[in-house]
Amino acid sequence: MSIHIRRWDPNFGSIMTKSLSERDVQVIWHPYTQHKNGVVPVAAVSGEGALIFDENGNSYIDAVSSWWVNIHGHGHPYLAERIYEQAKKLEHIIFTSFTHEPAVRLAERLLKILPGDFSKVFYSDNGSTAVEVAVKMAIQFWWNQSRSRVKILAFKNSYHGDTFGAMSVSSRSIFTVPFQGHLFEVIFIETPTHQNLGELKSFLHQNHSEFAAFIYEPLLQAAGGMLTYDAGLMDELLGTVKSLGVVQIADEVMTGFGRTGKMFACEYLKNKPDIICLSKGLTGGTMALSVTAATKKIFEAFLSEDRGKTFFHGHSFTANPIACSAALASLDLLENESCRDKIEFISGQHRKFADRLRKYKGIKDIRTLGTVVAFTLNTGSDGYMNKTSALVTARSLDAGIYLRPLGNTIYIMPPYCITGAQLDQVYEFLIRFAENFS
Ligand SMILES: Cc1ncc(COP(=O)(O)O)c(C=O)c1O
Repeated sequence: MSIHIRRWDPNFGSIMTKSLSERDVQVIWHPYTQHKNGVVPVAAVSGEGALIFDENGNSYIDAVSSWWVNIHGHGHPYLAERIYEQAKKLEHIIFTSFTHEPAVRLAERLLKILPGDFSKVFYSDNGSTAVEVAVKMAIQFWWNQSRSRVKILAFKNSYHGDTFGAMSVSSRSIFTVPFQGHLFEVIFIETPTHQNLGELKSFLHQNHSEFAAFIYEPLLQAAGGMLTYDAGLMDELLGTVKSLGVVQIADEVMTGFGRTGKMFACEYLKNKPDIICLSKGLTGGTMALSVTAATKKIFEAFLSEDRGKTFFHGHSFTANPIACSAALASLDLLENESCRDKIEFISGQHRKFADRLRKYKGIKDIRTLGTVVAFTLNTGSDGYMNKTSALVTARSLDAGIYLRPLGNTIYIMPPYCITGAQLDQVYEFLIRFAENFS
């Protein structure tokens, strides 16, 4: 199938046609894309399960769940129905002065399953704004109590989003270089290891009086390179953070909703956060929505006769009813036993695939966590500037698969509905790649 626009060509006096990809190149500026390279995007026209179909009828296995959001795959009829039903009833309403059923029901359901003692849900639109909200809440939590804790702690290699606050709390990288002078100061510490834990704890003890909050991606640093770290050691570190009164912010934007094998990655940890950020899988990849949930302790610090202590933050589309309905529908699917079975199936297959990879010399640091498997290519130069990523993407598209490595880190993060045969197709492609690479 091809989507063509018909146009009159004055030179030839005839009707010419242009493909959707060609029209795109003339008018669109894509995210994370160097347009000088002349990359022509694939024109997607439909999707079904793990498959994306392009304008020429080719299909691609979406092995990265479209930037980690499409947990139930594409074109899911149940999600589509629930979105349609809500769109007919109430498509949008201002979220000050008004409330609505989907927002309230979603908050009630989330508060029952979230990993921690959360009491309030704040809505925004995407992962970055969920983080902005969390960081602002944590800073104002102290300010409202006239306490001078202002500094934020974060992990090296962290990524929390692209807006200024989210960029500030993300590790400095090629993403942030042009904005360096405009980012606020953040203290970056290593993820815990047996070797550094003692040092990290004493650093916290010595400096805690100035720390407002500690933000972390629990157990899996995603955009930083799908880096995993140990749950037991993290719990020890969080124990110290908690004992020093620093607000803990878990960024589960990527890890939430089954990705790591449990509903939330914080379930692997004993120490629960004060604030949690969710987005990506929240609506099953259908609508832009995010949540920042807070405990009673955080919320109550904003209750005051003094209007200056209000949390002055909100977006036009806060708690959009269609997005909230999509999230409720996604939760229905997630809480179904068959979805849990699929997550377990993928996790098991990934572990077997990881074992097969171990014999290839050109590959290092093979890691799996739930439905994510990742490994690093021995390319000599690490990081985002590495050209291997574009090569892998191009070759994978030729093979009917969509992969998008992070520099020299290749990973698979499929929708939970991916079939065994589709997973095998992705594994075999990567085994062939590893054979040629070694
Ligand atoms: C852990 C984490 N936090 C925040 C974000 C930002 O989310 P968004 O791209 O929706 O702004 C991402 C995106 O990859 C993420 O992985």
